[in-house]
Amino acid sequence: FLLLTLVFLLTAITYVSEFPLKTAVLPDTLYKKVLNQIRSYYVVTEYLSASENQTIFLAPNSVQQSPTQTTDILVHHHVAHPSNYHFILDEPDKCKQDLFLVLMVPVAPHEVEARNAIRSTWGNESSVQGKAVLTLFLVGLTGGAEAQQQLEEESRQRRDLLQSNFVDSYFNLTIKTMVIMDWLATRCPQAAYAMKVDSDMYINLENLMSLLLSPNTPGQNYITGHLMWDRPVIRDKNSKWYVAEELYPEPKYPTYLLGMGYVFSNDLSEKIVDASKEVKAFNIEDAYVGACLKQLGVAPSSPPDPSQFRAYLGQYNREDFLRVITTIMRSPQQLIDIWKDVKRPI
Ligand SMILES: *[C@@H]1O[C@H](CO)[C@@H](O)[C@H](O)[C@H]1NC(C)=O
Ligand SMILES: *[C@@H]1O[C@H](CO)[C@@H](O)[C@H](O)[C@H]1NC(C)=O
Ligand SMILES: *[C@@H]1O[C@H](CO)[C@@H](O)[C@H](O)[C@H]1NC(C)=O
Repeated sequence: FLLLTLVFLLTAITYVSEFPLKTAVLPDTLYKKVLNQIRSYYVVTEYLSASENQTIFLAPNSVQQSPTQTTDILVHHHVAHPSNYHFILDEPDKCKQDLFLVLMVPVAPHEVEARNAIRSTWGNESSVQGKAVLTLFLVGLTGGAEAQQQLEEESRQRRDLLQSNFVDSYFNLTIKTMVIMDWLATRCPQAAYAMKVDSDMYINLENLMSLLLSPNTPGQNYITGHLMWDRPVIRDKNSKWYVAEELYPEPKYPTYLLGMGYVFSNDLSEKIVDASKEVKAFNIEDAYVGACLKQLGVAPSSPPDPSQFRAYLGQYNREDFLRVITTIMRSPQQLIDIWKDVKRPI
């Protein structure tokens, strides 16, 4: 009898002590592959549209997350509304009264090289066709005291960094975009237009300005870029674009603009922030902006020349870069080289 009691007690103890472990591990394994991808040094993104197939290298993830935290975020939807976050680094006085266009660049904290390439190319332009232009970078948390110090030093020198207190990761890009919209709405409502542009992009500001100054370009409820129609929601848990049905139940996304670079009249920034209160957040930032636009009843516009928003331009050809508005670069150095070549007098 004593032996039996002992065995029973031991079994009970083992069961009880293992129970919380099991419940924590079960949902975790479900998302293990997603987690691995989020954490992997490079996240390879393939934006596939009918005509283009481009592989883009996105930021390595600078912050370690505990699996339970991430699982929670994936199971319960994450919170994208910017009122949940605040600015650690801000540039509230950068937005001058006559500012026409703000270029907002989401970037990972450690990607100094990408920022410097932009600073020495299109980010260094302050006036285009007589209109004031400003480039600012937005980062999340660095995940380390030393990295934070470096970032603050960079901020003191350059005065072009905004930092918000969310965990900077690929999964959190929707938060990053909504914080960009919040900055535009609260710090820079006087700017006429804004562009959300990735840190690996080339921009031909002359062509962008010509588009914005065209009498056919609306000053309100206007957003344009590379249009994505009828895109199916990815339900494959191994994909980095996986979105759970509970976050976004419909099988297809509303029409949206490819995240690499979209341009909009700045009245939309506040409207998108407002709409996001009604639209459940999911982790595909560009499609999420599309969902907010649908909520607002604003239809994305096709650009006058859709080939000017090109995901990918094959072999370098100067003529192509004189014609486009924006396109993806392979490296910061390529941006610098191409910029020099495009700007050289003939
Ligand atoms: C897109 O390109 C990648 C890498 O080159 C390739 O693995 C993939 O099969 C391509 N997808 C399509 C649909 O062409
Ligand atoms: C920006 O352009 C000015 C000339 O207009 C130049 O003096 C300066 O070095 C440039 N800045 C960078 C970071 O390249
Ligand atoms: C996203 O950001 C939130 C807020 O900082 C954080 O709690 C969460 O862990 C982040 N998720 C990922 C996957 O990085």
